[in-house]
Amino acid sequence: MSLVGREFNADRPFGPYIVRSTISDELHKILLDTAYKIKKDSTLRKKNDYRKSLAGNLKEEYSYSGAFTKEQDRIVEEELVWLASIYTKFSKQNIGVDMSREPHQLTLHKPVWVNFMKQGEWNPSHSHTGDISCVMYLKVPKEIRDENKNSETSNRSNTPSAGKIEFCYGESIGYDRTGLIRDPIEKEIFLFPAKLKHMVYPFKSKSERISVSVNFGDSVQAARNLHNKNSLNILREKK
Ligand SMILES: [Fe+2]
Repeated sequence: MSLVGREFNADRPFGPYIVRSTISDELHKILLDTAYKIKKDSTLRKKNDYRKSLAGNLKEEYSYSGAFTKEQDRIVEEELVWLASIYTKFSKQNIGVDMSREPHQLTLHKPVWVNFMKQGEWNPSHSHTGDISCVMYLKVPKEIRDENKNSETSNRSNTPSAGKIEFCYGESIGYDRTGLIRDPIEKEIFLFPAKLKHMVYPFKSKSERISVSVNFGDSVQAARNLHNKNSLNILREKK
C-alpha cells in the first residue's frame, strides 16, 4: 500500500465546540476579592444565596448581584462579553458555519455567580440557560490535583476525575467521543454552548475549589428564532 498520489479527507462535522482561554489578572482579582467579600458578610451571604437557581449540591453558591462597584461591574461585563465574542469567532473553523458575533451582539445575562466547592460536594449533570455559557476558575488547590495522582480511590482508575469537569454530548456509535473530562486550572475559562451538558466530580481533600459562571444571549440568534416563529405562525394561518 502506498500513500503516494492518494488523498485522505476526514470530516468531523457534528457536535458542539468548547474554547479554553484565560481571564485577565484584573478580572480574576475582582471576582475573587468580591467572592470573599460576599462569603465574609452574613447579610450578603443570605441576600446573594443563589443555590435555589442552580443544580450544584454545594453549601455555598452566591450571585454577585449588587456586590461589584459600578466600575468593577463594567470591567467584568466588558471582558466576559468580549471572551464570548471570541468564542463565536471560532465557529467557522470548528463547525464550518460562521456564527461570529461582535460583543455588542451578545448580552451578559446577570447575575454572574460563584461556586465554593468543598470536600464531598458535587455538581450533577446539567445545562444552562441562554446561548453561550462559561466557567472560570478562581482557585484550584494543589491537593485536589494531587488527589488524582495519589489517592487510593483515583490513582489506579482509568478515569481519575476528582474535582474535574466533564462535558457530555451525543450518543456513542464508535469512532467518536461523547465525554470530555478537563482539569480546572486557575485563571482558565471554558466557553461552551449553554445547552451542553456538564458536571463536576467531587473531591476528598479538605480544600476549596472556587469557580465562576455566567450565561450570554445571542441577539442575532434571538432575532432569527423570532423570525422563524413568526413564519410558522403565518404558515399555520394560511392553512
Ligand atoms: Fe454549570
